[in-house]
Amino acid sequence: MNEKIIVALDLRGYDEIINLVDKLNDAVWFKVGAVNFTAYGTKLIEELKKRNKKVFLDLKYHDIPNTVKESVYVACELDVNMLTIHSIGGIDMMKAAQEAVKEFETKYNKKGPQILAVTVLTSMNDDNLKRDMFIEMSVEETVLKLANNALKAGINGLVASAKETKLLREKFGDYFTIVTPGIRPVWSAKNDQKRVVTPKDAIGMGSNYIVIGRPIYGSDNPKKAFEKIRKELEHVNT
Ligand code: C5P
Repeated sequence: MNEKIIVALDLRGYDEIINLVDKLNDAVWFKVGAVNFTAYGTKLIEELKKRNKKVFLDLKYHDIPNTVKESVYVACELDVNMLTIHSIGGIDMMKAAQEAVKEFETKYNKKGPQILAVTVLTSMNDDNLKRDMFIEMSVEETVLKLANNALKAGINGLVASAKETKLLREKFGDYFTIVTPGIRPVWSAKNDQKRVVTPKDAIGMGSNYIVIGRPIYGSDNPKKAFEKIRKELEHVNT
């Protein structure tokens, strides 16, 4: 079950991050996001790859198709294993991202990263969609429509909350690989996450991977916390 847990590296300080990675020697996946990528860039990814770790590059690309395509292509060359784009960037943009992976695969004759489309950020609710994006549909309806756009663009991965995973599985079956953040074991603090589920429930509801940050790196004993989560997932039917 180690390979279902993605540890978010949102802590400060390059040495602190590397120390954590070395402490969590059983962990397979690490998430590099906007904050630590801005601070440490490709150096951090290279260190993770040196340790044979899988990297989830969460930079949520959203730009004109060509810029996204070129960004995805260079991310492929960094050997990351998953990366995110915003589905709201449109079908052409998502297709361009997928094309970059295909080009990389043809050129290097090796498998490129899985692209995950972000639908509606969990920080948005129905009111925000209406006020800020002039969208009259509910979050759930919007998520399903954006997922359908991802499918049309040939993208087969999504980032989704556990609640959305359930809806997505009902509508699209097993087509998408789904990665879910907002995970809190019963024994940990919720922090600023409002809608949380346990690791076990998230996997039980159909997520393929869970992203967990503070319950691991913020605990007194990160290795023990990771191990506890891994154990909790042992008997979940997937
Ligand atoms: O510390 P915590 O477990 O809350 O970290 C969750 C990680 O997942 C953070 O890196 C956060 O930015 C990310 N994330 C999230 N909710 C989303 C999308 C990403 O918490 N909807």
